[in-house]
Amino acid sequence: MKKILISGFLFAAATALLTSCSNSAQQGATITLHADKGKQIIPKEIYGQFAEHLGTCIYGGLWVGEDSDIPNINGYRTDVFEALKALHVPVLRWPGGCFADEYHWMDGIGPKENRPKMVNTNWGGTIEDNSFGTHEFLNLCEMLGCEPYISGNVGSGTVEELDKWVEYMTSKGDSPMANLRRQNGREKPWKVKYLGVGNESWGCGGNMTAEYYANVYRRYATYCRNYKGNRLFKVASGASDYDYDWTRTLMKNAGRNMNALSLHYYTVFDWMHKGSATKFDDNDFYWTLAKCSEVESVIKKHCEIMDKYDKKKHVALFLDEWGTWWNEEPGTVHGHLYQQNTLRDAFVASLSLDIFHKYTDRLKMANIAQVVNVLQSMILTNDTAMVLTPTYYVFQMYSVHQNATYLPLDVKCATMSISADRHKNVHESGKLPMISATASRDRKGKIHISLSNIDLENGQTVTINLQGCATPAGATGQMLTSAGINDHNTFDEPDVVKPVPFNDVEISDGTLTVKMPAKSIITLELQ
Ligand code: AHR
Repeated sequence: MKKILISGFLFAAATALLTSCSNSAQQGATITLHADKGKQIIPKEIYGQFAEHLGTCIYGGLWVGEDSDIPNINGYRTDVFEALKALHVPVLRWPGGCFADEYHWMDGIGPKENRPKMVNTNWGGTIEDNSFGTHEFLNLCEMLGCEPYISGNVGSGTVEELDKWVEYMTSKGDSPMANLRRQNGREKPWKVKYLGVGNESWGCGGNMTAEYYANVYRRYATYCRNYKGNRLFKVASGASDYDYDWTRTLMKNAGRNMNALSLHYYTVFDWMHKGSATKFDDNDFYWTLAKCSEVESVIKKHCEIMDKYDKKKHVALFLDEWGTWWNEEPGTVHGHLYQQNTLRDAFVASLSLDIFHKYTDRLKMANIAQVVNVLQSMILTNDTAMVLTPTYYVFQMYSVHQNATYLPLDVKCATMSISADRHKNVHESGKLPMISATASRDRKGKIHISLSNIDLENGQTVTINLQGCATPAGATGQMLTSAGINDHNTFDEPDVVKPVPFNDVEISDGTLTVKMPAKSIITLELQ
């Protein structure tokens, strides 16, 4: 019996103890895959992204402008654009975040030299020149082939301003805002489905109470019109983490007026002591995954409340911000939330996605924060250099699950005991399984299985019993792992953590035996 005592406590009340079941070199795990019990499609929007005017997410990350020396396509960085295209981004949320509730869209249209500047008060006081605005964002979505998800300004904006933005983007008639759009070079309206009515309205979006915001939401949503040929999917600003009262009040007072309610959940320790993205020990690693896995209980509880007010599940839950939040990298601009991304972040991505797949009867979208250079990003850039993060590779390996039918599975494996600990922001005691898994069948009938072995020391022999499908002829796969859990990709060494082909699978009579190394993430395709 291995016990790992968590070090670094600020207070003596050390309730936190992780206890693993075994420390043998090669452990065993069994999975039963119910290939005949798939009902629910995993919406591709579970793989959504988020781009905020924050740090170098937009400027330097997505956008460098047409005159830049950095290779670009009409101002969009070519390297970043191509990497995102390869990821099949289904939906992109913009312009915030907290920024959204101070953003005045009219400042970001028309000739660039006439666009006023503003102070980005939320994020380091940076001067925003509005050179990336509505046209630049919506054209990018068209080029990527993804749905735009616009976050409207409720905190410091007006109903009229939001109402006109919707008209500007989506009206095809001879209307004043449609004509202004034409004057700015875009004849056809864009297709805009998702509209967020405010962001974190309990905090940076206006510090409102739930009761007050429910009324504000109803008022704003009334004037966000469906122009001919475009139907909005209106998203109310939802709770943070464990704020179940917010969800209850919103569902009770405005549930009938919304298409979705959002939720934000970050994998973050104590907000004052978040910890380094790269310098952490094994205990921190397991705590991170304990915190990340707690999203399951949080989703379940919000869903239970939604079920009470909306039995037929008309209202979707959107987890439109999630991911890791570490200290900013030393030497970077304070307030820009630039952090590195290690194999630990990759596990947060894989475990989170495994959980999201289970709740897609209600959970219809998730947007990792954020796409480039901010928090748990897919991509990091520095001037002309670009690097793909371990999280990027998880999204790439998991892209086969987009729009596939979720196949339920049961996992039996070693676990670690977790005791709730307020300094690690873990609210509930529980068990952290060493193996996390998910599976789906795509539209061509191919089954994909993703497995994560979070054990830092032990390999796992995973026996997968296939029920309700023929024994496959073979299995090919990809694996993400690295020598150290702190390993990450840098501009000097961009290929430290990168997927490699994986073939260590034996198949016999309805059973797959997969030999997983310690700390590895694998996606298999059954032939
Ligand atoms: O993603 C960074 C910030 O986190 C967002 O702007 C805000 O909505 C959340 O608090």
